[in-house]
Amino acid sequence: MTNLLLRNIGELVTNDPALGDGSALGLIRDAALVVEAGHVVWVGPQASAPVTDVVQDLGGRAVIPGFVDSHAHLVFAGDRASEFTARMAGKPYAAGGIGSTVSATRAATDEQLTAQVARLVTEMRRQGTTTVEIKSGYGLTVTDEARSLAIARAFTEETTFLGAHVVPPEYAEDPAGYVDLVTGPMLQAAAPHARWIDAFCETGAFDADQARAVLTAGGAVGLGGRLHANQLGPGPGVQLACELGLVAVDHCTYLDDADVEALASSGTIATLLPGVEFSTRSPYPDARRLLDAGVRVALASDCNPGSCYSSSLPLCIALAVREMGMTPAEAVHAATAGGAAALGRVDIGRLSTGARAHYAVLDAPSYVHLAYRPGVPLVLEAVGR
Ligand code: NIG
Ligand code: FE
Repeated sequence: MTNLLLRNIGELVTNDPALGDGSALGLIRDAALVVEAGHVVWVGPQASAPVTDVVQDLGGRAVIPGFVDSHAHLVFAGDRASEFTARMAGKPYAAGGIGSTVSATRAATDEQLTAQVARLVTEMRRQGTTTVEIKSGYGLTVTDEARSLAIARAFTEETTFLGAHVVPPEYAEDPAGYVDLVTGPMLQAAAPHARWIDAFCETGAFDADQARAVLTAGGAVGLGGRLHANQLGPGPGVQLACELGLVAVDHCTYLDDADVEALASSGTIATLLPGVEFSTRSPYPDARRLLDAGVRVALASDCNPGSCYSSSLPLCIALAVREMGMTPAEAVHAATAGGAAALGRVDIGRLSTGARAHYAVLDAPSYVHLAYRPGVPLVLEAVGR
């Protein structure tokens, strides 16, 4: 079996604190890494690198684990550029806009939806993302949710059933009936294609009791739970997620002290999605407050046609550093190891022995440049999927 030595890595982010400088990033300068059969089999200072069959010289560039984007809505048709333009002129974001994407998605063919996901996954890879979670949530019928997930599954194992995104118009007078559909026939059709179940717990979408019913039903058929919560205002979602022991709760923009305490003591990961605040011109979540309280934090894109049509983790890192009080090291860790933890994965999001060889080569000497050079396409190559 051939093995590959990556040599002359100026700075290697391993995310293993037992390595290198002993920080959470486990930084090794002048590093080398050996890949065999898709896994990291050796990592360390290049002066002690073993002999291999194939050698690639990285010319002093930085190497980081591939980004793990743990929150994205990629199965949709159409766009909502006019809604974005209106928002930039002062109109607030509201959950209701999701309906126009639902209509367009229902009308699209499987081929059109597949081409759309392929385009966005390719766009993400060019920006260093090697693992992406993909949600349904723009079908909202039994058939359209199941086909959205089947399409997503062709691109990732990390698929999430989000039938509880909003109540579709045909159930406007009967939201309880819609929750019965989601927890019954729709879940049965979706579960074979999904690893996770999610709900949008927010005013204008689903309340805490409805979200609890959805997450409990999903858990009963073996799906892990995750939740959209506290995005547009304060609410019960974050504490519900912590109480249910979910692996992650996403958005976390409006938090009170009890929410922060619940996150810190439960270990539920707070996934922050700063592209949403950028694209809806909203206040950013206070990452510093969360980190100082001992909360585990992930960064993800939330790529979707409404609240954030950006697939860029480098953008999220730059925003987290500039606007949310994170250091560049914390932001890069949150977009790699944090995303992996938010998906319950230990095989990705790190570059130490035994991990999958999912990595990004930066055309820069340090990971810091991801925040220092915002908007610049620094990812030279993303490897592994
Ligand atoms: O995560 N919050 C709910 N869902 C998406 C937005 C979906 C949309 O506006 O189309 C989000 O922001
Ligand atoms: Fe989302």
